[in-house]
Amino acid sequence: FRLLGEKGIPTHFVELVGEREMLVRAVEIIPVEVVVRNIAAGSLAKRLGMEEGTELPRAVVEFYYKSDALGDPMVNEDHIAVLGLATPEELGIMKRLALAVNEILRDYLAQRNLILVDFKLEFGRHHGEVILADEISPDTCRFWDARTKEKLDKDRFRRDLGGVEEAYREVWSRLVG
Ligand code: TMP
Repeated sequence: FRLLGEKGIPTHFVELVGEREMLVRAVEIIPVEVVVRNIAAGSLAKRLGMEEGTELPRAVVEFYYKSDALGDPMVNEDHIAVLGLATPEELGIMKRLALAVNEILRDYLAQRNLILVDFKLEFGRHHGEVILADEISPDTCRFWDARTKEKLDKDRFRRDLGGVEEAYREVWSRLVG
């Protein structure tokens, strides 16, 4: 979040409070998850019948309605407007910021031999401004090792691949260590 803030992305981050907590600006979360994809994986690979690992010619942005009762269905701009989840202006800001975050994180991670396959962001309203909120972690992103393509994210848990802690520690050490 600090890196993104330095690069001009408005975020909820204020400061770190110890190792596991951050002080943030309170937001009203917009109930739309924004997913950005650089490489086909997970639900996109399944839905469109693409082989996992296929590089996409450009970044793909998807929206999902945050609703546990409905299982977070994918929605488009019309659905979001009809449901009143976000205004078209807010959605435009979210999409623009999500693509900017993608550029920043992809470069940052590439320098650390990590491929940013895809990730999910959440935004919130803070004094009328749309800012980046929630978390960015191996729980909310797909990170693959640039050389071996080894999965270093929550897919190790989701797909019962083992080595979850080791993968998270590896990401931590490449980013911070
Ligand atoms: P998907 O391929 O399962 O749709 O996931 C796309 C990206 O979004 C992946 O990096 C994981 C992240 N994600 C979440 O953070 N929370 C979720 O509930 C889901 C479904 C995906």
